Amino acid sequence: MRLYINLDHVATVREARRTDEPDPVRAAVLAELGGAQAITVHLREDRRHIKDRDVLLLLETVRTGVNLELAVEEEVLKFALEHRPMQATLVPERREEITTEGGLDLGDAGRRRRVGESLARLREAGIKTSLFIDPVEETIRLAAELGVDAIELHTGEYANVSREGRGEQLRRLERATSLGHEVGLAVHAGHGLTYENVSPVAAIPGIEELNIGHSVVSRAVFVGMERAVRQMLEIVTEARRGVGG
Ligand code: PXP
Repeated sequence: MRLYINLDHVATVREARRTDEPDPVRAAVLAELGGAQAITVHLREDRRHIKDRDVLLLLETVRTGVNLELAVEEEVLKFALEHRPMQATLVPERREEITTEGGLDLGDAGRRRRVGESLARLREAGIKTSLFIDPVEETIRLAAELGVDAIELHTGEYANVSREGRGEQLRRLERATSLGHEVGLAVHAGHGLTYENVSPVAAIPGIEELNIGHSVVSRAVFVGMERAVRQMLEIVTEARRGVGG
């Protein structure tokens, strides 16, 4: 199990004043010291938080690897192809949303073609590819047909549901993980995971990577980035121990 830390919201605080602090590049050093196994950032089309400069410096300074989240849009795609992060995760993007609100919709044939072409170009450039999708059988099968390396299961519904509904959402994620493996995909998960709700997801055998941002950055405000990451890593490692690593 790898814990990737998303640092978008360090840049969100910086952009609240359009100044130069806090710097996500400095945060990345501390996140790595705390045990992050890679740094994730989302270069949005509107550059509302992470900027080109951040990604370029992260690519130069991060020792683990950079997982770049991006929309299926030519301009950001070209940026990824030119600068080659370790991994590219394709995500849906709408300007008016507060955060990524759902997985990529692969139901539309035109969009599916564009996603497939983007994946092919990224893979040709030697970049590992991932698709952020909902834990839905049909979408997982469509993702496999597109020749992606991995899927990142959207855990937002699990995170938002009441405690009583969690079991059902968890079983959905478990089924989606098994199906992902059956069709030959690596399985990642993320969105809305917190110190309080991450354990059952981390304990799903077969999930190889978690992407966690907001909750860790929030705690880092109080305890510092290094400690915040280490505390999350301890919870994830402990949950994983129960299922044999
Ligand atoms: N995974 C993806 C694809 C995302 O877009 C995000 C949010 O940027 C995350 C994981 C992390 O979500 P959160 O900030 O809620 O931990």
